[in-house]
Amino acid sequence: MNLERIREKLKGSVSPVALTGAGISAESGVPTFRGPGGLWKNFRAEDLATPEAFEADPLRVWEWYDWRRGLISRIKPNPAHYALAELESKNPGLTVITQNVDGLHTLAGSRNVLEIHGSIWRVACTECKNSSENREVPIKILPGCPCGGVLRPGVVWFGEALPEDILNEAFEASGKADFMLVVGTSGVVQPAASLAYRGKEAGAFMVEINTGPSALSNIMDETVSGKAGEVLPGLL
Ligand code: OAD
Repeated sequence: MNLERIREKLKGSVSPVALTGAGISAESGVPTFRGPGGLWKNFRAEDLATPEAFEADPLRVWEWYDWRRGLISRIKPNPAHYALAELESKNPGLTVITQNVDGLHTLAGSRNVLEIHGSIWRVACTECKNSSENREVPIKILPGCPCGGVLRPGVVWFGEALPEDILNEAFEASGKADFMLVVGTSGVVQPAASLAYRGKEAGAFMVEINTGPSALSNIMDETVSGKAGEVLPGLL
């Protein structure tokens, strides 16, 4: 790890990208998905985060999302989110691509944020497909759409396609990245992980910040081992 080299590369960067995952919100108190205490250790994704699960038992799925919305509504961004927002104010070329649905990057002040897995603060109609913001905590279960359809959480579930326009923007930003920070992601979920490969192919200087190794560690130019909330503010 060579922090000076990372700072130098970042200083010269005109189109940096930060690809973030659950680890960046861990210090805020949002549970990650994998690893100790991860959501997928205690819950079965196939019962809660698939379109089939919602069709079979929308009440159960909504109760789980309502619990997560309650949890997220009570927490705040941490120094890692704020560091990225500050970086954007110094370098407006920054794009934050996040797999997180918690909205914490925006709350911290980041503006150019691509939420490729959707947002827990949005709902979408299963019938008319209309999508809108909803910040009710607790939410009225089952929420209904004016069209008569049932509303579902505005997030991407396993087996579903990512929002095409946002994914295209993410690939475009990664394809012209000259510096890429990969923060707090296990790098095992596609197509999110392939954005890092796109950055690598584009010649971006690749930097990982993670408490441990990930599936993407082998394509990094530099790896900083540690908590995002401690490492990022010092680095940026
Ligand atoms: P994971 O839970 O798979 O991985 C979290 C990563 O963060 C791991 O590599 C940890 O080592 C690291 N980590 C934990 N605490 C950290 C900290 N304080 N600072 C830095 N790193 C830390 O989360 P994701 O990779 O984001 O998808 O998961 C990807 C997707 O899988 C999620 O978006 C979600 C899930 O199923 C959908 O819901 C569609």
